[in-house]
This record gives sequence, C-alpha cells and structure tokens, in this order.
Amino acid sequence: MNPYCAFFGFKSEPFTSEISSKNLLKLPSMVSVKERFDYVMSGGVLVITGEVGSGKSTSLRWSQNQFHPSQHLFLNITATGGSLIEFYRQLCWDLEIVVQTGSRAGILKGFKSTIREIAATKKQKITVVVDESHLLRIEVFAELHTLTQFDNDSKNLFSLVLAGQPNLIEKLTYRSSAPLASRVVARTHLSHLNQDQMAVYLEHHLTIAGIKKQLFSDQAITAIYQGSAGILRKANFLARGGLVAAATEKEQVVSPDHIRLASTKLL
Ligand SMILES: Nc1ncnc2c1ncn2[C@@H]1O[C@H](COP(=O)(O)OP(=O)(O)OP(=O)(O)O)[C@@H](O)[C@H]1O
Ligand SMILES: [Mg+2]
Repeated sequence: MNPYCAFFGFKSEPFTSEISSKNLLKLPSMVSVKERFDYVMSGGVLVITGEVGSGKSTSLRWSQNQFHPSQHLFLNITATGGSLIEFYRQLCWDLEIVVQTGSRAGILKGFKSTIREIAATKKQKITVVVDESHLLRIEVFAELHTLTQFDNDSKNLFSLVLAGQPNLIEKLTYRSSAPLASRVVARTHLSHLNQDQMAVYLEHHLTIAGIKKQLFSDQAITAIYQGSAGILRKANFLARGGLVAAATEKEQVVSPDHIRLASTKLL
C-alpha cells in the first residue's frame, strides 16, 4: 500500500475511480440522471452533459444499476470519432450480432431485427447508452434518429441516451441534427458541487477507504472547493495530493498549504 495510506491508516486507496455502485455518494446530479432515465424509458432521446470529470460515466453506471436486468437491457457504447458504419458495428458487437455485410442498410436491418426479437421474446426495455457522445461526427448525428425509428416511428422499441461534454448541445443544434434533436424528451446538465456538498463528498471518500473522521481542515476543504471549481475528478486529485503532502510532513490534518502544493501538480 502507498506510504501515505499506511500513515493515515486507510484500508484502501482513497479518491479512486474504482468505486462500486453501492459505495457511491447519492449526489443530486446523479439522482437527476436516474429520474430522466425513468422518463426516457417509454421512448425518445435523453441528453446528459457535464464538464470533464463531473461524474457523467459514474451517473450512467449507477442509474443503470437501479433497473432490474430481467426487465431492462442496456447497450453501452463509448463513442469515437469514427464513421456511422463503425458506430453501427459497435452496437452490433454489443448485441453479439455477426455482421456479414459491409453495407450500412444491411447492418441497420440486422440490428433492428434483433431489437424486435428481444422486445418480443424477452420483453425487455432496450436502452442504447452512448458515453462521450460529443465525439460523434456530425454525419452520425444526422442519421442517428433512423436507428430509433421502427415502423415509421409508430413503435418505441428502444430509447437512446447521449452523454457527453457541453459541446454535445452545440452539435445537436446543427441543422442536420434537427431530426435527432426533435426526439429529445429530457435533458440534464451535471452541476458542480457547492462548498457544503464538497465537504460531504470528501468525507464520503475517506469513509469508503476506511477512515471515519474528517482529515481535511475547513480551510483545506475551501481550497479544494476553489481549486476544483466543484468538479469531482479535480477534487479527487487535490484531496489525494493534499493527503500525500500532509503525510510527508507527518501531519494528521490536511491544511490549505498541502492543497496548494498539490495544485501545483494539477495540469
Ligand atoms: N456519486 C459519486 N460518489 C463518489 N464519487 C464519485 C461519484 N461520481 C463521481 N465520482 C468520482 O468522480 C470521478 C469522475 O467521475 P466520472 O469518471 O464519472 O466523470 P466523467 O464526467 O465521466 O468524466 P469524463 O468527462 O472524463 O469522462 C470518479 O472517478 C469518482 O472518483
Ligand atoms: Mg466519463
């Protein structure tokens, strides 16, 4: 274990990205994402935006875990800057569809018939979740709505969730994205934490790593809040850096100076 962890008596490394769903803090932004998942289950498109490191992927994972797997099927894709055909192929891989054709129409047909079959036989609600959607090419946005169309839009066989950085909204305002944008039924933006929430967030991470007391002084919490602008991954970085700096000086409480030292290493 890292020497600073031993110094403070952590049972596991604090402020990591590997947190099980049950150990996540029920942040208002995460709950808001789940509520919108509920809403979009009856069809349509949900758009989730947030700055880098604001908790988008974590909220997607947690929200999906709140649904029963016998009733819901989630297809998770991480978008790339690839072509539409590559996007369709990613979807087919997730559904274990063997793609025997190189044509766009052929792949789409195979995908839709599998979706129909799952909806009819397993009676599961299907949701395609695309993380990092801001990376999708404009030409993909222009055609994405055709994916959700079944029997000329008379059937809602699945829902689409698009999550990404704030410029995702800009891509949706392009004229060519209008058919997709018109199918958006819900939207949410992951807000940054306020100072009180930051104190709770830091304490939560300490607790799941095995420490039940606040190791950050009030001023250190303020320094983390200001230095991270309330963004979770930046806060993790500053908090961990502050703990390392305090341990190096054999101090049991993290001070704002320790956070300042950590912030000099933040890109
Ligand atoms: N509810 C939560 N409880 C505790 N920690 C959380 C929670 N949500 C996010 N985090 C922490 O914040 C980190 C960043 O979250 P996440 O990776 O979900 O952000 P993101 O918005 O998807 O980032 P990116 O834009 O880089 O993809 C996580 O690794 C985790 O440590
Ligand atoms: Mg992410």
